[in-house]
Amino acid sequence: MYISENINEFDKIQNIYRNFPTGRLIDISNSITKKYFQNKIYIRGLIEFSNICFNDCKYCGIRLSNRSFNRYELSNEKILSIIEDGYRNGIRTFVLQSGERSYLNSDYNIKKKSSNTPANLKTISLKFIEKVDKLLIEIRRRYSDEVAITLSCGVYERKTYQDWFNLGANRYLLRFETSSGDLYEDLCPGKSFSRRIQALQDLSDIGYEVGSGFLIGLPGETEEITINNLLLCKMLRLDMVGIGPFLAHPETPLAKFPSVDIEQVLKITSLLRILLPESNIPATTATGTLDKLGWEKALSSGANVLMINISPAEMKKEYLLYPGKICIYEDGFKYLSDLKVKLEKIGKQLCFERGDSLTSKRKIGINR
Ligand code: 5AD
Repeated sequence: MYISENINEFDKIQNIYRNFPTGRLIDISNSITKKYFQNKIYIRGLIEFSNICFNDCKYCGIRLSNRSFNRYELSNEKILSIIEDGYRNGIRTFVLQSGERSYLNSDYNIKKKSSNTPANLKTISLKFIEKVDKLLIEIRRRYSDEVAITLSCGVYERKTYQDWFNLGANRYLLRFETSSGDLYEDLCPGKSFSRRIQALQDLSDIGYEVGSGFLIGLPGETEEITINNLLLCKMLRLDMVGIGPFLAHPETPLAKFPSVDIEQVLKITSLLRILLPESNIPATTATGTLDKLGWEKALSSGANVLMINISPAEMKKEYLLYPGKICIYEDGFKYLSDLKVKLEKIGKQLCFERGDSLTSKRKIGINR
């Protein structure tokens, strides 16, 4: 187990987890969210720019071994045109997400599953890094700091993270997926848990706003792991925390495993808000997929951010991390006006500001 020194904190969280009814946790989390964010829901534009991935995580639909769908990579021109559309629709934070094409952890999978040699692999990886470099340069040529750029492309060397930061990336999302190193390394063959945590540390040292998080109800998760998932978010002092239910994908080794119910997701979301009052917590797509009103429920249990998928419709259906993913046929921008109404119904207001993390503002001494 990764965490053992924080025994007192562990006991405290476990006590709350075991003994507080979910409704009470939700009430507490709501008053905290109101205090720090009023009724604002920050909106982000998510662009899934490539589903090519070297990893073979047993839970994930775009794992290397799944050959049942098409792999794609959007050109930088296409990504820039989506950002331009987003900008015109008022969006000021763009999340650029892709599968992981890093040679760091991938020798295992590639040797086992692909005809690529490691040398070849390094070339592919460097080409990807260069693509992101060029994209960031162009984004910063076109847009001022009014626009925040979040990358979510996996584990890379510290130097790569530093270069991307220097070129204009502001935030980075990298879920640790589970706080149990053993479970992580079992579910993500060839990958190292401590290397992933090191990457989060590197990102934070460089000055990124760092987002991480975990899956709720992974096969093999115990109560101890659940508590440690929460504790690890706190120990890492995350600026953003993305959590969502594990949803079984039929083309993965975990196809037959059940998901948790929405109540468990809301319980964990509200506990997270209580532990990290100032962090940005999105209501995730997986939560919206688990329950028709999942977004609204999460936003009423501590979440304060929504990521709208603005990838091209024809690509969205190839980025199925899990089945039944919501919003894959809708135009992300058209959806914004519907969303405004939905949020008003739960007393919330769509907010188009950059929505920097309150935690990071405090770290660098900006007054609020
Ligand atoms: N169910 C829910 N979430 C998943 N992810 C990957 N596969 C699944 C799944 N089957 C999540 C991982 C990853 C994020 C981009 O998507 O947590 O970090």
